[in-house]
Amino acid sequence: MKTSEQMIQVDEKGFYGKFGGAYIPEMLYPNVEELRENWEAIVASPTYQEEFQSLLKDFVGRPTPLYFAERLSASFGAKIYLKREDLCHTGAHKVNNTVGQIILAKKLGKKRIIAETGAGQHGVATATVCALMGMDCTIYMGELDIKRQRPNVERMRILGAKVVPAVSGSKTLKDATNEAMRAWIADPVGTHYIIGSVVGPHPYPEMVARFQSVISEEIKWQLLAKEGRENPDLVIACVGGGSNAAGAFYHYYNEAAVRLIAVEAAGHGIHSGKSAATSVLGTPGILHGSKTLVMQTEDGQVIEPHSISAGLDYPGIGPVHAHLHAVGRAEFVGVEDEDAMKAGILLSRTEGIIPAIETAHAIHALNQISFNPNDLIVINLSGRGDKDLETYIQWGNY
Ligand SMILES: Cc1ncc(COP(=O)(O)O)c(C=O)c1O
Repeated sequence: MKTSEQMIQVDEKGFYGKFGGAYIPEMLYPNVEELRENWEAIVASPTYQEEFQSLLKDFVGRPTPLYFAERLSASFGAKIYLKREDLCHTGAHKVNNTVGQIILAKKLGKKRIIAETGAGQHGVATATVCALMGMDCTIYMGELDIKRQRPNVERMRILGAKVVPAVSGSKTLKDATNEAMRAWIADPVGTHYIIGSVVGPHPYPEMVARFQSVISEEIKWQLLAKEGRENPDLVIACVGGGSNAAGAFYHYYNEAAVRLIAVEAAGHGIHSGKSAATSVLGTPGILHGSKTLVMQTEDGQVIEPHSISAGLDYPGIGPVHAHLHAVGRAEFVGVEDEDAMKAGILLSRTEGIIPAIETAHAIHALNQISFNPNDLIVINLSGRGDKDLETYIQWGNY
């Protein structure tokens, strides 16, 4: 019997244990309240579900394969499956959520969409669904990320989105999120803000997790068909804000025998001053509308994070992950830049799959955790490496 502390579920106010909630300026209150009051009923309605399921199948390409990685398994002495979110249309898991939110925005009568992006995958996924639905789209992106994820910037522009650079702070994901929040405050009524991870004020973290939970829903029946059991021994996923991990963990949160491994970016080393390992370096604070673990100084100034992967370069984690960490339900691992790059090459050469650098962190975690021979491991392959070619080239060690 689990205590309520150990059960992973959100309460009415959007809290997972001590983390979550909605800490927002007054101007946004009616908008966030509108969403909170309506999203579950809209998403549960038959007309919504019909459109959503049809787009997931025919536009996104779901279900994505659960692929047995034979050569990778042999090199680690375990049975490793890869959940192929990299094969989703647009190249990452992000589109599961943007399809979900764009239909919701349409049903709420919104005409304009804004979003933040780090690696550009969420920006591309948002620009894509806006093109699909004929909606006006503006994407906020840090100036540094615009440089290191250039192909995705051009994809967004080709799709008809306006890309606005965020030039404050470290010019990365946190700063882009700040800009998007500001733009939302300027036009709260006509605009829907498609947040791309399990962050932000309630109901976003749970809503995004629910859209991404299709990942673990599929893993369950796919594993049953392949292995005769729904539950693996371990599920491994990288964590920026935490949406692909939340999706991969969702249907296993309350299955105590399944180890959940959350992989953060340790940059140049967790304590090097150039890292994004929030579970180790963070303390409770408010970031982008929710209470969570935040990398911050004693007086509450956010510390600039660092990761070679734009999608993990974030000084917080979603509140559900802060809770999973606090109650010990998930094991957190920090993987350094150099090791992630090597793991990207390893996956390329053992399986013929060039992963996104975010995803490569999850692959390298296999070297940093213990498991038993023949354990059944599922790694969520959150995205493909096309966007990262320039970073691979500059790194050059292959
Ligand atoms: C391929 C890929 N994986 C992971 C992430 C990290 O985001 P999240 O933690 O929300 O899954 C990103 C973010 O852009 C991404 O593009």
